[in-house]
Amino acid sequence: MKMMEMNLLILVLTLLSCSIHSPLLANGSNSIVGLQYPAVFNFGDSNSDTGEFFAGLGVRLGLPFGSTYFHKPSSRMCDGRLILDFLMEAMGLPFLNPYLNAIGAPSFRNGCNFAASGGTVLPATAQSVCPFSFGIQVAQFLRLKAEVLQLQSETKELDKYLPPEDYFNKGLYMFDIGQNDFSIDLDSMSLHQVLALIQKVLVEFEAGIKKLYDEGARNFWVHNTGPVGCIAQIIAYYGTDPPKLDEHGCVSSHNQVAIIFNLQLHELCRKLQSQYTEANITYTDIFTIKFDLIVNYSRYGFKQPIMACCGYGGPPLNYDSQIQCGQTRFFNGSSVTAQACDDSTEYVSWDGCHL
Ligand SMILES: *[C@@H]1O[C@H](CO)[C@@H](O)[C@H](O)[C@H]1NC(C)=O
Ligand SMILES: *[C@@H]1O[C@H](CO)[C@@H](O)[C@H](O)[C@H]1NC(C)=O
Ligand SMILES: *[C@@H]1O[C@H](CO)[C@@H](O)[C@H](O)[C@H]1NC(C)=O
Ligand SMILES: *[C@@H]1O[C@H](CO)[C@@H](O)[C@H](O)[C@H]1NC(C)=O
Repeated sequence: MKMMEMNLLILVLTLLSCSIHSPLLANGSNSIVGLQYPAVFNFGDSNSDTGEFFAGLGVRLGLPFGSTYFHKPSSRMCDGRLILDFLMEAMGLPFLNPYLNAIGAPSFRNGCNFAASGGTVLPATAQSVCPFSFGIQVAQFLRLKAEVLQLQSETKELDKYLPPEDYFNKGLYMFDIGQNDFSIDLDSMSLHQVLALIQKVLVEFEAGIKKLYDEGARNFWVHNTGPVGCIAQIIAYYGTDPPKLDEHGCVSSHNQVAIIFNLQLHELCRKLQSQYTEANITYTDIFTIKFDLIVNYSRYGFKQPIMACCGYGGPPLNYDSQIQCGQTRFFNGSSVTAQACDDSTEYVSWDGCHL
């Protein structure tokens, strides 16, 4: 929205695939973006989860996740770094620790990551993959802040692990959530029901932003939702009927809903910017960037716009919901494993669920 939008577009473009290396960002704080924040507090889903979901559920996400950059399990739904990781590097800050990480001596000095894979804006239900929906993530932040301030009043010993009080005000609050709210069977819903769902999601999102603002958050950076309909998993579930697909092979209804949601999210950001005159709210058009990457994939050096690098089943999607990336199952009396492709830089999609 403000001055950052242009730089951000250039930045995100260079970062989008989890496998791209960007020399432009190699010097941390000397990068092309003039981002200067002492801390980052991030809220979202698997697009920016650095380990929250797997720490919370007590699951270790093994290789090939993490294989091309960390060379060990990194609790990210990616073979390398996430957009958030690149942004942290661009700011000269360390990767963000997930709130629930209890192993080692995790530092929250430069912020905390509440994003959890499968997370939705709307409250989780018994059917939800992930219990840590947006409201919970915001509640976790409020608890973190209160505990940090209390600890700091009691001891100086933990200072190197905790953000000073002013970082809560000066920090950047980032959001990338909503995709999972719309990864559902839209065909069984009327237009009226879909619009009502979008409205509910926005009301919940606004309530979370307001809580953070009331706690002193001032710098907001909101990612809109990507082209959900171009995700192999969504195509496998909802795009088996050819008329449901657009000319790029994406499920039209899911992309249309993402576009409508994004228009209203943009409108909400404008409204909040006019209400919160002390705040900076940056709306970031991730949809356009990711859709461009899928449609114009060859121009960006990719060979596969939609097919998963890591999966099972072969073309066109290389995605099978029964055997996800890295898993081994017995089929027809023999064991099969969903393995990674030889060169993940040729694929926009890592595992059929994450671009
Ligand atoms: C930044 O990175 C470039 C390319 O890697 C390098 O040539 C340059 O010396 C670096 N600048 C600083 C200030 O580290
Ligand atoms: C908002 O950003 C502008 C520059 O884009 C900066 O001058 C201003 O201090 C920021 N306001 C807040 C409240 O951070
Ligand atoms: C693909 O690239 C062309 C040429 O740069 C551009 O006009 C078009 O908008 C791009 N498509 C998408 C979906 O971004
Ligand atoms: C198992 O065998 C059946 C019959 O040959 C075949 O249709 C099916 O695709 C096989 N399943 C897998 C996972 O290979």
